[in-house]
Amino acid sequence: MKIAILGSGGREHALSWKLAQSVPQDDIFVLPGNGGIPNSVPIDSMDFPAIRQFCQERDIELVVVGPEAPLVAGVTDYFAGSGIKVFGPSKQGAMLEGSKIFAKQFMAQYGVATSNFWIFEGDSDAAARDRIRELGGEVVIKYDGLAAGKGVYVCSGEDEALTALHDLHKQYGADARFLIEEKLSGAEISIIGFTDGKDIRMLMPSQDHKQLNDGDTGPNTGGMGAYCPPTFYNTDLMTQIMDAVVTPTMNGLQKERFDFNGVVYFGIMLTATGPQLLEYNVRLGDPETEVILPAMKSDLLRLILACFDGTLSNYEMEYHDGYFVDIVLASGGYPKSYVKGYEIHGLDQVSSDAMVFHAGTTRKDGNIVTSGGRVLNVVAHGSDLAETIGKVYQECRKIHFTDVYYRTDIAKRDIMEQ
Ligand code: AMP
Ligand code: GLY
Repeated sequence: MKIAILGSGGREHALSWKLAQSVPQDDIFVLPGNGGIPNSVPIDSMDFPAIRQFCQERDIELVVVGPEAPLVAGVTDYFAGSGIKVFGPSKQGAMLEGSKIFAKQFMAQYGVATSNFWIFEGDSDAAARDRIRELGGEVVIKYDGLAAGKGVYVCSGEDEALTALHDLHKQYGADARFLIEEKLSGAEISIIGFTDGKDIRMLMPSQDHKQLNDGDTGPNTGGMGAYCPPTFYNTDLMTQIMDAVVTPTMNGLQKERFDFNGVVYFGIMLTATGPQLLEYNVRLGDPETEVILPAMKSDLLRLILACFDGTLSNYEMEYHDGYFVDIVLASGGYPKSYVKGYEIHGLDQVSSDAMVFHAGTTRKDGNIVTSGGRVLNVVAHGSDLAETIGKVYQECRKIHFTDVYYRTDIAKRDIMEQ
């Protein structure tokens, strides 16, 4: 079976690597891919007619969608009736990620544990300011639409919240739709499952590190590293998450009859009163994918196909033992401005038992050079978390490019709290 993967980051490299355990690597194409992903084809993942033409010419039978934008824009609906399977929800199901207001209303309707929230649309600034003052500014303000992680303002105090409100209007317009949520606190965990809209099979739970600097400080990024499984995860917590979040969501998906063969990502905060859902995504997380696919022992292609042919309930998920840690090597200056085009050295020095998934890289004159903010993901596996952290950083130190930046504390809070 020939497969096309849409996207260009570390997540798509990991998908290509994992699917190559099921079919020959030569049968997997990544559109547009990057400098390190085999069979990268320079077709934009939003150019649906070009993707369709490529799939027809190459006899592609399955399209796996990496990022959210093509799903929210309706790539699955676009291929309907073409005979090509697209793994990812229809445009309607993708609203769970595409509109934060839609997602919150869905959570409220189906009893999914989540923070209190208030919806604002149109000329509602005075009401929003009143709400902020009432909550003492301990709020999270979220722009309704897709914003690549930038439309969320986590605020401490009235002044900060009022400034955030002003900024949101400046960024997204005076009539932007947005939410104000009660601010929660606790550890975060990413729970990611594959679903046919009825059953769901979970990958290993993982944790992302969204902030730029050590100690979870600095601006939010697309993710600076991830690890799995968190040592605090256990069957009791799993039961709580299933009851509070996953099961009510699955009931909602069935009741709404969304056409949903794809991934549901639950971004969960473990609060003093139990797990609460912060957000849905309708695709694999990045950088979580770079650890949870290596941690998956069972066959990924079989899992995806089971979501289409009604056999998901028979699929048994198996995991590898031990821990997986991913460090993102970024361009200095990211997430703001940074220089591209630096040559990357040392990739050939990385041990054969570690993995490197490319994100922002390209090929130039036979060399691999930087071309994005998040450049590489270095992943190691070990039986003990502390040992795995040591191992992955040892590999990171072998890779060099000008102004390389990475966090030095990925997964370390977990071992300090043990
Ligand atoms: P989201 O894109 O909705 O997941 O929000 C991005 C990040 O903002 C999350 O990973 C959390 O760290 C934080 N966040 C979102 N909602 C809340 C909330 N209600 N309380 C506290 N933090 C939140
Ligand atoms: N790692 C968070 C995300 O993919 O949205």
